[in-house]
Amino acid sequence: MDIDNIIKERRSIRHFKKKDIPWKKINEILESFTYAPCAGDIQNFRLIVFKNDGKLNKACHSQSSVVESNFLVAVCSDDSDLVISYKEKGKFFGIQNTAAGIQNMMLKAYSMKVGSCWIRTYDEDKIRAILKIPEKISLHAIVAFGYFKDKPEMPLRLDTQKVISFNEFGKYRRDPLPLIKK
Ligand SMILES: Cc1cc2nc3c(=O)[nH]c(=O)nc-3n(C[C@H](O)[C@H](O)[C@H](O)COP(=O)(O)O)c2cc1C
Repeated sequence: MDIDNIIKERRSIRHFKKKDIPWKKINEILESFTYAPCAGDIQNFRLIVFKNDGKLNKACHSQSSVVESNFLVAVCSDDSDLVISYKEKGKFFGIQNTAAGIQNMMLKAYSMKVGSCWIRTYDEDKIRAILKIPEKISLHAIVAFGYFKDKPEMPLRLDTQKVISFNEFGKYRRDPLPLIKK
């Protein structure tokens, strides 16, 4: 699969097959996270991986993507070095670093025919307690993975001409941007 197909065809998957994903594949997915760009190269991310045994179902409001997943990754960060280097911006950079890593994992997973769903609707206190996440560690997201049953239709995407300004904010063009002209 080439990069264009992986980016365009990946979807959030909420129904998974009951088929085990080998740890070798899981390791490759996790490793892809660590190759994402990160502010000041301060690798603040900390991941908790586990096979789904149902322990997060309730805390994630029984979302099917969590209930039916094969394995889950809790994406956390230790932002202390970022805060030392970047003061009040440190936490903000910490969020961006982890978001970049999550996207890497989801694209890598899809390239191996593994579906995923980024979950942020959950009871954070319950998850922190279940996974024993220390207070100084931030929890950013849970990502659910599994072999997908059916891939949903792509939600409509905004036309690039509606979101890309030319030269300065708000200067939209009706004709295609020279940069993306084929
Ligand atoms: C920050 C963030 C939080 C999200 N939280 C949830 C969630 O709690 N539950 C869920 O089913 N999907 C969640 N999603 C997935 C989005 O709903 C999904 O990416 C969006 O509908 C676009 O669909 P696509 O991923 O198939 O392109 C989240 C995505 C992001 C980036």
